[in-house]
Order: sequence, then structure tokens, then C-alpha cells
Amino acid sequence: MSQTEKLKPAARVTGQRQDVWSIVNEAALASPIQPVVNMGQGFFGYNPPPFILDAARSALERVECNQYSPTKGRPRLKKAIADAYSPFWGRKLDPETEVTITTGANEGMLSAFMAFIEQGDEVVIFEPFFDQYISNIEMPGGKIVYVPMHPPASGATKTSSAGEWTIDFNELEKAITPRTKMMVINTPHNPVGKVYSKEELQRIGDICLKNDIIILSDEVYDRLYYVPFTRIATLSPDIENITITVGSAGKNFYATGWRVGWLMGPSHLIKYVSAAHTRICYSSVSPLQEACAIGFEQADANGFWDQAVTDMKRKMDRFNAVWPELDLPFSDPEGGYFVLVNMSKVQIPEDYNFPPHVASRPRDFKLCWFMIQEFGLAAIPPTEFYTDANAHIVEDYMRFAVCKPDDVLETAKERLRGLRKYLKE
Ligand SMILES: Cc1ncc(COP(=O)(O)O)c(C=O)c1O
Repeated sequence: MSQTEKLKPAARVTGQRQDVWSIVNEAALASPIQPVVNMGQGFFGYNPPPFILDAARSALERVECNQYSPTKGRPRLKKAIADAYSPFWGRKLDPETEVTITTGANEGMLSAFMAFIEQGDEVVIFEPFFDQYISNIEMPGGKIVYVPMHPPASGATKTSSAGEWTIDFNELEKAITPRTKMMVINTPHNPVGKVYSKEELQRIGDICLKNDIIILSDEVYDRLYYVPFTRIATLSPDIENITITVGSAGKNFYATGWRVGWLMGPSHLIKYVSAAHTRICYSSVSPLQEACAIGFEQADANGFWDQAVTDMKRKMDRFNAVWPELDLPFSDPEGGYFVLVNMSKVQIPEDYNFPPHVASRPRDFKLCWFMIQEFGLAAIPPTEFYTDANAHIVEDYMRFAVCKPDDVLETAKERLRGLRKYLKE
């Protein structure tokens, strides 16, 4: 082997295509309109509430909080999570065996795949997917089997509920083989904003029970729902027995940079994800776990969960008021903080100059580039969250994140009004 060959990186980190985040950043740098308003990425444009910031400050003053946390997480946080979720489960969760703390939900999911996936095992995921699932499944050698979610047939002409995006259960059954080991669901859903109904979750749960499939339920937006929200693990003891539920303090407390997440589930599953987590990063950020523990302990007394829903729904409605003005249909979210808008009526000038790596991508990438250059507004092209074969399903949509200060939402709306002159009659 030559020296240069030996220095080559592993295939798992050398994707062929430029990812969406770097294309958006490149477009933003090239835009004549500065600063670009970033409605793309799902980070908050404001701080966690004072009682949580205070908790973080005081944790930093304490000697034991600045040292290694136990690998499965600080006892106070595990207990606070078990206490906060026991009412939903209808029984007392055991903080020692049924909860484990991870470095954000993302590392929690990597730990879950590392714990259960062997080379060639199959994992079913729905499109659009959260992009990190892909590498997290592929790293331990998993094979991904994709099942698309379908937008409502009238999505290009009429605003409808995000709940109208559907799974074709025949397609789902066909995707299952004897090697299917895990299925990932995400509710409330990023980027669709769908909250899966109890009936849909029951059908998914029954399919997984029948086929001995572990359910990884990504519920990182579990405190932001605008219609009734069901947690699949709570449907029956049998379904609970095969389900790992994923949570994120970053999403719950407006602190995505803190990198605190957790997994909940039966002890016979959690013990192996804890083992994988220990091998991946040993333990997670200690003082911020303490702050999150205090966050959970005090959230109800501070009315925080209700306030979070009220505030985000108000932001959602404030921002989405611009679409009827432009006569652009959108998928009205049932949860989370993303909204998908159908932009098939937007006509990009035929001679518009795109760099080759954007020109070769689906129409939503061109819309993304065009909006950043013409209006100084960034949104995310959702075909990034589909396979090439199914990208056509969403190539007219754009994803906007509304977890931004109100003045940013208003500036974004003003910039979007510039689309008027590009709308088809
Ligand atoms: C659906 C979904 N799952 C997981 C995550 C990652 O959460 P965390 O920041 O806690 O790793 C995100 C973040 O955007 C997400 O949208």
C-alpha cells in the first residue's frame, strides 16, 4: 500500500455530495444582501428561561458538577427525567435501569444503533428523515430501508394540516424482511410537523411486535405539540418492551448547544445502549446535566411547558400569516418548530445563474440558492432528507424554522414578500 493510500480517510466520513448546511453557508456568504436571515437551521434565536440559566451558573460553582459524571448520567437528572415521564407511562419509571443520559439525542441514537446493529442488519426509516440517522445507522454496518411519507395530494394548491402527510402501510409492510432489526419513528416530526395519531402508532407498534423489531422513537420535540400527542411506548406493555424513546434537553430547554439528551426504555434494552454510550464518549457534560435536572424539577412550577407551547404556537402562527398573503400553501404543523411550504408557484427566471453543484440538485436547492441571493433569506431544501429516488416528492417544498425572535420572523416575512413578483398567476 502506498503512503497516500494509507493516509486516505475511511469511507464513512467521505460522502460524495456537498451537504446542505455547507451549501447554505456558501450561498449566504455569496449573497449581496447581508446579513442573511437564517430561517434554515433549527437552533433557537433566544436563550433558555432564567431559572434554567441560573441553574447552569450555580452548577458551575460546584466542585462535583465540574468533574466526570457517572457514565449513565448524573443521578439527579435521571431521577428528574424518571419523575417527569412517569405520569405519561402511568407507572413509576426506574431512574437506575430505565433512563440513560447521552450527549444530545444524536449521540443517544448512535449508541442505540451501536448497541443493536450488526453488519447487514436492516433499519427502516421514514422519508423525510433527520439526516444524522443515516451515518448513525451506517457506522455500525446497518443497511437502511426507506419508506416515504406522502404529502396530501392537494399540497401544491391548498394549505392543509401536517397530519395529512401519510404512511402507506402496504409500503411499510413490504419494506420489512427477516433482517429488519430496528424501525425509527419521529413524532412530532422534523421537518413535516406531523404528530402521529394513536391509530398510526398502534399499527406501527403491531407491525414491530409481529416482526420482533426494536422501535427507536425519536421524540425530541415532545414538549411542542398543538394537537394531542401520543408516545408509542405508552400504548401497551408489549410495545413498551420493544421501544427506546429518545429525548433532548437541548430542544426542551432552548439549549441545543448544551448537548444533553437521554434514552428511556426497558432495562433489557437500556443496559446495552448505556454500554455503547460508555464506549463512545464515556459520559456527558456534567454541569449542564445538573442544570437540566433542575429544569425538569422546576418546569411545572414555573409553568414552563405550557408557556413553551403557547410561545412556539404563537411564533408559528405569526410567521405563517405571510403565506396566505402570497397565496402559497403550507403544511400547518401539529408539533415542533418547522414548517414546510409549497413553492411550486414560484417561478425562478429561466436564465438564472446557479453554480454547477446547485444546478445539478433538485428544484428546492435552486429555490434555496435563489432566495438567499435575491432576498437574503435562508431556508432548507427538504430533498436533502429524502433518497434520490423519492426526492421528487418534496422538490417544491422549503423548510423554515420558526424558533427565532419575533423581530427576525417579521424581517423574514418582509423579505418573503419579495417573492410576489416571481409568482405564477
Ligand atoms: C428529529 C431530530 N432528532 C434528533 C435531533 C438531535 O437532537 P440533539 O440536538 O439533542 O442531538 C434533532 C435536531 O435537530 C432532530 O430534529
